[in-house]
Amino acid sequence: ERISLWGGRFAGGPADALAELSRSTHFDWRLAPYDIAGSKAHAAVLRSAGLLDDAAYGAMIDALDRLLADVRSGEFAPAPDDEDVHTALERGLIERAGADVGGRLRAGRSRNDQVATLFRMYLRDHARRVATLLLDVVQALHDQAAQHLGVAMPGRTHLQHAQPVLLSHHLLAHAWALLRDVDRFRDWDRRADESPYGSGALAGSSLGLDPEAVAADLGFSRSVENSIDGTASRDFAAEFAFVAAMSAVDISRIAEEVVLWATKEFSFVTLDDAYSTGSSIMPQKKNPDVAELARGKAGRLVGDLAGLLTTLKALPLAYNRDLQEDKEPVFDAIDTLEVLLPAFSGMVATLTFHPQRLESLAPQGFALATDIAEWLVREGTPFRVAHEVAGECVRVCEDRGIELWDLTDDDLAAINPALTPGVREVLSVEGSLASRDARGGTAPSRVREQLASLEARIGPA
Ligand code: ARG
Repeated sequence: ERISLWGGRFAGGPADALAELSRSTHFDWRLAPYDIAGSKAHAAVLRSAGLLDDAAYGAMIDALDRLLADVRSGEFAPAPDDEDVHTALERGLIERAGADVGGRLRAGRSRNDQVATLFRMYLRDHARRVATLLLDVVQALHDQAAQHLGVAMPGRTHLQHAQPVLLSHHLLAHAWALLRDVDRFRDWDRRADESPYGSGALAGSSLGLDPEAVAADLGFSRSVENSIDGTASRDFAAEFAFVAAMSAVDISRIAEEVVLWATKEFSFVTLDDAYSTGSSIMPQKKNPDVAELARGKAGRLVGDLAGLLTTLKALPLAYNRDLQEDKEPVFDAIDTLEVLLPAFSGMVATLTFHPQRLESLAPQGFALATDIAEWLVREGTPFRVAHEVAGECVRVCEDRGIELWDLTDDDLAAINPALTPGVREVLSVEGSLASRDARGGTAPSRVREQLASLEARIGPA
């Protein structure tokens, strides 16, 4: 016989097809420990309000503790007739404490305020976990940057050679983006730090229960200002899904570069055997599957966010059953990141870079043309003219199949008299890098400074 939470006004139980549709235990069971923590906090305020005597309170807490142990051991699990995690645990409580004691816990609360609270608790825990895993990727990028200080590479825009940069500078660019994602999780947590418990179904509780006490018990700084908002809002879930998706998108940008860098044509990196896969038919293959999966899974997290927002769109206040659809996309985002990020940080940490290859390509593609133009500007030529002159240098080189540094003093003077031999000081990668020495630039001194400021944010290695 199905345990029903609303037997009174119904002649019979739900149709099997409705029970099938309604059931959520296959995905909300992970909230069970949080539900039990919520029940214990709720029991305490029922006692404070004089609605549970000490004996009943003691029996209730004892039964809830045993229930938690049984949930943990797998002894207690949801049955097919349990609609959701809350229903299943109420059955478990009644089985352990008896119908009289067990039946008192539901006073003054609703699954609407319960689930809104538990979901936040779960997400707050996992926000911390995911942030820690993101920091591991940041650390791996930092360590590679620190180990390769001084190695130049081709900096690109539009994927075309643009200007030489330091490899460390490039790697740290990814690190800063991920660090902002970590900040976003922390910032999100400040807004999620509000307990809806005590909101009841929507209007609040009439039983003299103290929502602030429950909030404190469950690790929240405060309870919600508005019980309707507390039970109806899911922006905390959508915002979490955004931060998760943004993190995955930032990871995917590193992933795409690793895929390119590991090709024969680039040959910037070699993947560690432990973080690459072979082919069942082509014996020579070494595939960047970690990076590819990271790139692919980013799409999945964007989908999780889009699906959730679509569910929330235009829902009237307060609780609607549609809201049961809020959990799977966010759980999927968390599960995905929690398996992806450890593999990803391992892959980054074990990349072998090829400094000679990177350095030899750094000045290619006339990547020092901007340096010629800026040298001319420093010598007093207007930039518009300088840009033309440097462009002409490129054209001459392209026609003759040579590089900028192959131009003779006579070639230079013929292009423009302002191009005196002094220009050669910037026609090297070292000169080019060293000249970009404003804050945030690729000059080695600035990149060392950047590395130190990242260390100040993430702590020593
Ligand atoms: N399982 C539901 C959810 O996840 C909570 C139950 C609320 N149900 C209801 N009929 N008020 O949103």
